[in-house]
Amino acid sequence: MHDRAAQLRQLLNQHAHQYYVLDEPSIPDAEYDRLFQELQAIEAAHPELLSPDSPTQRVGGSPIDAFASVRHRVPMLSIHTETDISDQGAVAFDQRVRKQLQLTDSDAPVAYVAELKFDGLAISLRYVDHVLVQAATRGDGETGEDVTHNIRTIGQIPLRLSPQAPATLEVRGEVYMRRDDFEALNERQRQRIAAGAKSEKTFVNPRNAAAGAVRQLDPQIAAQRPLSFFAYALHFHPEDNRSLTPLEATLWGLHAYATHAEVLQNLKAWGFAVAEQTQVVQGAKGLVQFHEAIAQLRDQLPYDIDGVVYKVNRIDQQTQMGMVSREPRWAVAHKFPAQEELTTVLGIDVQVGRTGKLTPVAKLAPVFVGGVTVTNATLHNEDEARRKDVRVGDTVVVRRAGDVIPEVVSVVVEKRLQDAARFTMPRLCPVCGSQAVREDGEADYRCTGGLFCSAQQKQAILHFAQRRAVEIEDLGEKLVDQLVDAGLVKTLADVYKLGFSHLAALERMAEKSANNLLASLEASKTTTLPRFLFGLGIRHVGEATAKDLARHFGGMDAIMDASLDQLLQVRDVGPVVAQSLRTFFDQAHNREVVAQLRACGVRWPEADPQGRLDLPLAGHTYVITGTLPTLSREQAQAMLEEAGAKVAGSVSKKTTALIAGEAAGSKLEKALGLSIPVLDEAALLALLKPAA
Ligand code: IVH
Repeated sequence: MHDRAAQLRQLLNQHAHQYYVLDEPSIPDAEYDRLFQELQAIEAAHPELLSPDSPTQRVGGSPIDAFASVRHRVPMLSIHTETDISDQGAVAFDQRVRKQLQLTDSDAPVAYVAELKFDGLAISLRYVDHVLVQAATRGDGETGEDVTHNIRTIGQIPLRLSPQAPATLEVRGEVYMRRDDFEALNERQRQRIAAGAKSEKTFVNPRNAAAGAVRQLDPQIAAQRPLSFFAYALHFHPEDNRSLTPLEATLWGLHAYATHAEVLQNLKAWGFAVAEQTQVVQGAKGLVQFHEAIAQLRDQLPYDIDGVVYKVNRIDQQTQMGMVSREPRWAVAHKFPAQEELTTVLGIDVQVGRTGKLTPVAKLAPVFVGGVTVTNATLHNEDEARRKDVRVGDTVVVRRAGDVIPEVVSVVVEKRLQDAARFTMPRLCPVCGSQAVREDGEADYRCTGGLFCSAQQKQAILHFAQRRAVEIEDLGEKLVDQLVDAGLVKTLADVYKLGFSHLAALERMAEKSANNLLASLEASKTTTLPRFLFGLGIRHVGEATAKDLARHFGGMDAIMDASLDQLLQVRDVGPVVAQSLRTFFDQAHNREVVAQLRACGVRWPEADPQGRLDLPLAGHTYVITGTLPTLSREQAQAMLEEAGAKVAGSVSKKTTALIAGEAAGSKLEKALGLSIPVLDEAALLALLKPAA
C-alpha cells in the first residue's frame, strides 16, 4: 500500500508537470482522474500515508481563520524601476552597470539575462527535503503571509522537486493569471451574480484576480481560481531560523552557480516553468533589442506583462555590485507604457453607423494610456453598456492594448456619485429621430431612417469613397459632414453632381481644394465591378463577397435581378448574404442610386452575363502556400485575381493548381495527394505573362 501510494504520487506529479508546465499532456484526463482517485482512496483508508507532496493536497483543504506571518529567511527585495520608458532606459542601466563594475570602453559588453516583468504577485516557495513546505507572499519584504494552502492548488508549482535538485532551497517567482483564464473566471462570476449571488464580484484585471485568489482564506475557492507561476530566482538559506542581514542575503549560496542563466536552467530542470522569452543578451544593444522585440510581442502573450527586467548575468558581478535601499544594483525593471488607466466619464454619446447601428460611446476626460491620449471608448451595445453599468460621472478603468480600440474595462463603483443615473439606449435615432429598433436575436439597435438619416448618409458616402471601394481621394470625413449638413449631398449619386460653385461656397474651401476634389471625383468614375458593389455598402457584402458576386454574374444588372436561388449558387454566399442583397435591390431608391451613378458616368468593364469573364484565368481556382521567393502572398493573390482567377484558402478537387513556396506544409501534401499541379513562383509568373 505504502509503495503504491508513493508510486501514484510520483506518477501524478510527473503528469502534472507535463500538463501544466510543459503543456504536453502525457495521458488522457480520464486516466489522470483514475490514478488520482486511486490515491485518494488509499489515503482515505490509510491517513498515515498522506504526505504534503501528494497531489490530492492541491484541491484545497479546510478554510483557515487568518494568515500566519512568515519571516523571510532571505529578504524579498524590490527592483529599481528605470524612469525612462524609451529605449534609452536600457542604455542608462548599462552605463550605470559598467561604471560600477569599473569597466572601460575597451572592455567587452556586459552579459545580461533579459526577462519579462510579469504582472502578478511575488511568491517565495520553501522546499525542505525536496518537498514544498511553505509558500509566502512578499509582504513588506521582511515578513509576508503564509499562503501555502492556496499556492498548493497551482498546478504549475511542483509539490516535490526532481531528485537532482538540492534538497533545501527557496524558489521565487510570480503567481499570475492568464488572460483567457481571467476572462473565463469573470464570465463565471457574472453568471453567479446573475443567479443572485450577492457577495460575488467581477475582477478588474488578471493581477487583481490573482492577488485575490492567493489571499483567500478558503483554499477550495482558491482552487477554482486558475493561477499560473513563473520562477525567476533561487536562494539557499541556512537551516537555522536566523534571518539574514541584507549583505548575507546577496551572498548566500548563490555562488553555487556562476550565472543567473544557469540558475534559470536548473529551475526549469527541477520542474518549474520559466518564461520561454527569457534570453541572455550582450550589452546595451542587446537590451534595447529585447525591449523592442517584447514590446511587439506583448499583446500576443497569453498573460499580462508590464515591462521587462534586466539582470546582470554573472553572479560574481552581481555580488560585486550589491544593493542600495533594498534594491539590487544589478537588476532593473524597464516598464512599458501602462495599458490601463483611470479616468472619468464626461458623457455617453450614441453614434449612428453606416447601417444604422447605434453604438454607445463613453466620452472620457483625456487620459494617456497604451501610448496615446484617449478621449472616447466604445461601449459596443446596450447589453455591454448595461453589463458594465457605466454612468456619466463614473470613474472607470480604460484599457488600450496594441491597436485594439480603447475600451472601458470596469467602473470603480465605490467612487460613483450618488445621483448618477443608469444609461438607457434611446428609442429614437439621436440624429434623425426615426424609430430605433432591436430585432430579436440581435445585440444592436438600428435606426430605421435608412438613407433619410443624415448620419447614415454620411457613413454611406465615406464607405463608398474609401480606398478599397471607388476611392475618392480628397473626400474626407470633415468634408462629407459639411456637404451633408449643408444639404448639398444626400445620396451617393449627389456626390457626382457637385459643381465648382457648390464647393467654393463651403466654408474653409479654397479654390485649389475644390479643384482637387473635382479631379478625384472624375478619377473615381472608372472603377471595377467588385469595388463598386462593395462601395454600395450592402449589409454583409464585404470585399471578398463582392468579388465572388462579380465573378459569378459578370455584370451589375445580373446581380440586381438575381433571385434568392440564383444568389445562393454563388460560392460562399449563404442565406443571410443572399437575403441582404435581395432586400437591398428590392428597394426602388437603391436601384435609383445605381442608375444615377451610372448616368453620372461611373463605369466599370462589364463582362458577359454567363460569368465567363473575358480574362485568361477566369474560372480557375488557385491556392497559395508557403513563402514565395520575391512575391508576398497578397501580391501573388492580386496578380492571379487580376487575371480573372479565384484564390481559395484550401486545396480541394476543384483547385486548378497550388502555388507553393518555401516551408509549404499540409496544403502541399494534400495537393500531391489529389494529383493537383504544383507551381513555384517562376511558373506562376510565366503563367501570368500572357495576361499582362
Ligand atoms: S526579480 C532581485 N524578475 O517585480 C529582484 N521580479 O519589485 C527580485 N517581477 O515584486 C525580483 N517579473 O513580483 C524579478 N522577471 C522578474 C519579475 C519580477 C515580475 C516583480 C516581482 C517584484 C517586482 C519587483
